[in-house]
Amino acid sequence: MKKIAVLGLKGGIGKTTTTVNLGAALAEKGRRVLLVDLDPQANLTLALGFQAVTDLSLAQFLVNKASFHDVVRFYNKNLHCIPASGNLAKLDRLLIKLHEENPFRPFVLKRAFARVPACYDFVLFDCPPSRSMLTINALSLADEVYMPIQCHYFALESCRNTISLINSVKSRFNPLLTLSRVVPVMGDPRKHVTKNVLRELRLIFGDSLSHTLIRENIALVEAQGKRLTIFDHDIRCHGAEDYAALAEEVLSQMNAERTLLLTA
Ligand SMILES: Nc1ncnc2c1ncn2[C@@H]1O[C@H](COP(=O)(O)OP(=O)(O)O)[C@@H](O)[C@H]1O
Ligand SMILES: [Mg+2]
Repeated sequence: MKKIAVLGLKGGIGKTTTTVNLGAALAEKGRRVLLVDLDPQANLTLALGFQAVTDLSLAQFLVNKASFHDVVRFYNKNLHCIPASGNLAKLDRLLIKLHEENPFRPFVLKRAFARVPACYDFVLFDCPPSRSMLTINALSLADEVYMPIQCHYFALESCRNTISLINSVKSRFNPLLTLSRVVPVMGDPRKHVTKNVLRELRLIFGDSLSHTLIRENIALVEAQGKRLTIFDHDIRCHGAEDYAALAEEVLSQMNAERTLLLTA
């Protein structure tokens, strides 16, 4: 089970779209995927057509008032989701208080995850755009971080805070955490700005920059409105093509790492 936090300390940069559609692409390729909505705004939950109900959602699961089977929702056979609701914000405030008393106490996500069945190949956490305790919980539990970055000139400035948060959680709570993939999103490969930003990102992030550019594509917006993944909305659009390519990249890198381990 690979646990990936999709992170960026800014709203509107493509975290939820990437969580939903990368998850859906991995599910299309036969992997079992669990998406966890950690954002009290519940965009991921709504984007998959589920309701953000307070009584059977992530907050209840985290405080052990609901079982995994009570809260899990099935988008399709391979793509499942633990929905969020507004009461996650209340839980976050409680976790901040507990954190002030004892920095190691409020790791509710790690504890709750012992109750998630081991059948999933991937767990993707859709993080809120803030340094909330829920974000810190996700980073403390995740193996890797994926960071979407918009192909705009000021994108690099905006990801500094995200990288410093990753480093801080890594040094305090999760030494194995890595920023393993920076995903350029909302770009247009014909435009100078996209080419320049990609060149700059390659210099900074090297191989951690994914080779797949998620192009700007209105179908991704429409799919959210229809409460469908991009594959169920329009399998031939650029968005579907790009997220399928990103999933392929993720899987082939995992295979390469496995081969390296076996031959070491
Ligand atoms: N590649 C893309 N092309 C066009 N619109 C996109 C793309 N990715 C995301 N969007 C749109 O941008 C908005 C913000 O994306 P979202 O994934 O919700 O960001 P975040 O979760 O970081 O707040 C949404 O309306 C979404 O549909
Ligand atoms: Mg979001």
